[in-house]
Amino acid sequence: MSFRIQPTAPARPNRCQLFGPGSRPALFEKMAASAADVINLDLEDSVAPSDKDTARANIIAAISEVDWGTKTLSVRINGLDTPYWYRDVVELLEQAGDRLDQIMIPKVGCAADVYAVDALVTAIETAKGRKKPISFEVIIESAAGIAHVEAIAASSPRLQAMSLGAADFAASMGMQTTGIGGTQDNYYMLQGETRHWSDPWHWAQAAIVAACRTHGVLPVDGPFGDFSDDEGFRAQARRSATLGMVGKWAIHPKQIALANEVFTPSEAAVAEAREILNAMETAKAKGEGATVYKGRLVDIASIKQAEVIVKQYQMING
Ligand code: COA
Ligand code: MG
Repeated sequence: MSFRIQPTAPARPNRCQLFGPGSRPALFEKMAASAADVINLDLEDSVAPSDKDTARANIIAAISEVDWGTKTLSVRINGLDTPYWYRDVVELLEQAGDRLDQIMIPKVGCAADVYAVDALVTAIETAKGRKKPISFEVIIESAAGIAHVEAIAASSPRLQAMSLGAADFAASMGMQTTGIGGTQDNYYMLQGETRHWSDPWHWAQAAIVAACRTHGVLPVDGPFGDFSDDEGFRAQARRSATLGMVGKWAIHPKQIALANEVFTPSEAAVAEAREILNAMETAKAKGEGATVYKGRLVDIASIKQAEVIVKQYQMING
């Protein structure tokens, strides 16, 4: 470890973030009753320009009127390149009740984007005497966002989570695909006649995880557009979990159970992690820093790896 200790990310479950358009208030009670850890009420791209004002009013009312249980309640505001975002922030902070936990800032391209929202939020919180500080989450979904990802992760003490938004990211990067996450037919390696599909999202995900882990922010995988493809969702989510991400969005209720399944460490994984910890305890008692578990090396680094799994399991299970 560097002299500078890696900060821990917020200790709250973030396995599934369920989205719903602010212009469809009939969905809000269903969202609240779901098994998602985080609710994202949307003012941005699932709401037509003509519906922005109504959606904002719907969301402000629902924040107080709906019983959101223990979920993290977040509202996605419009991007800083639109005429809507300042009114989103002002009206939410001035009018919505204290139940609101978080604001999601889309299409963040540099740390100053977060600074701008932070300045506005801080002024309104102070003016209105709001007791509970609003936290932030951001979406990395542009070339600028990924180029400046580390500075964005460090941009504000309010920042708790960062997601990869595959669709806008692909568009901004000029990628030749209309898919939202998952396998892309033209992204393959050739070995003789055999194609091996590769993962075009991998490097962006890894960059996000590294930036997040450096600054104590939760790294999250964004949407998987084809909600009829359960196995495709599982495969994408498993890759994300393996890379260090803690959860994934659901853009349809079908995807909630899938995300919870993948991002909750399995009983088998937890049992194995505990066996590794026990093996290392025994080794330590004998004055050894390394030992053999099931025919493979485990050492002091293995303790930290096993603890990631056990701690995640314990946090999810209270
Ligand atoms: N949250 C909670 N419940 C939802 C839901 C959501 N996001 N989307 C649909 N449902 C409900 C429907 O009301 C329906 O309930 P019912 O069985 O009681 O009638 C059930 O789930 C099945 O819905 P379905 O008919 O398959 O979907 P739809 O055609 O109504 O809506 C989408 C499909 C994709 C348009 C809708 O899920 C949606 O708007 N998703 C979120 C989009 C979004 O927020 N995007 C921004 C982030 S990328
Ligand atoms: Mg987007």
